[in-house]
Amino acid sequence: MGITKHPAVYPSRARCCARWIAFICLVSFVSVAARAAEPVLIRFSHVTSEATPKGHGAALFKKLAEERLAGKVRVEIYPRALKFNDDQALLALLFGDIELAAPSFSKFRSFSRKIQVFDLPFLFSDVDAVHRFQKSEAGRGLLDSMLSQGIKGLAYWDNGMRVMSANRPLRTPKDLKRLRFRIEPSAVMQAQYRALGVATVPMPFKQVREALKMGLVKGQENAWSNIYSNGFHDYQRYFTEARHSFLGYMLVTSAEFWAGLPPEIRVELDKIVGEVTEKVNQNAREKAEQDRQRVIDSRKAEVTTLTDTQLEEWRKLLTPIWKQFEHEIGTDIIEQAMSANRSR
Ligand code: SIN
Repeated sequence: MGITKHPAVYPSRARCCARWIAFICLVSFVSVAARAAEPVLIRFSHVTSEATPKGHGAALFKKLAEERLAGKVRVEIYPRALKFNDDQALLALLFGDIELAAPSFSKFRSFSRKIQVFDLPFLFSDVDAVHRFQKSEAGRGLLDSMLSQGIKGLAYWDNGMRVMSANRPLRTPKDLKRLRFRIEPSAVMQAQYRALGVATVPMPFKQVREALKMGLVKGQENAWSNIYSNGFHDYQRYFTEARHSFLGYMLVTSAEFWAGLPPEIRVELDKIVGEVTEKVNQNAREKAEQDRQRVIDSRKAEVTTLTDTQLEEWRKLLTPIWKQFEHEIGTDIIEQAMSANRSR
């Protein structure tokens, strides 16, 4: 025989249910409200030391954002590839594991081939020319060139002109023959060193010091602040300033994250990015001078600056590789970059 319940049970059970539902609604309302009041977390991952223009930029961004958007924004910085290498950082942005990164231009190749323009050897005469190009229509356009893939460029940050090094003096292109250089994962750098008869090993920045120490690579190129802060001069005796290329960064975020920010926070962060960019670029100029001098003062290394006549030989050998990248970058972009040299 089935068990029949007393009809009076049902109203009391309904009351109990209603109480539970009300309780659950209250708990979720409180937790949503609490979450709404939580500051927006911005995790900034990068690969250089704190004592570089990028390191200073990240720290200044944190300071200004947390001061001006107190209680609304919290910034965590992960320097020295503590969280991600450059090759992982862009995917991490897209997966929502970080919110800001500033990889060097060569690291964007799988997202935008056009950005390779910054690495073409001898394309830009100096840092001012790089800035003129970045402010041009083509330069600003590159910040948006990865939007369809979910990456938004916020600004360009400088480090400085790259310097080559080895344990033998590098004055003419012949001096590099049969060396093995660490390069960034860059097709342009690969082509550049192939033209110089150098074998290349693409490698994350974090591993370079150890690779030089162990003799796995015999040479490298980088900006002075990266060289000094990582002590590459402990293992490399001769540095050559050929002014052939510029190491710079694109500060990037996830397009979805940026668009989802409350408008007043986004507008303030945009302003902060503008201010920080000016300071980073000023710091980059100063650091390039200071860290160059520190390397010289260490007496562990010698610096060779090539004359215009010596440079002519390097230029003749390296500028023909532009042709190989014209179809990827676009001749219009290369022409605009060249015209930035002229519009002084
Ligand atoms: C960086 O400055 O972010 C690293 C550049 C490199 O990979 O050499």
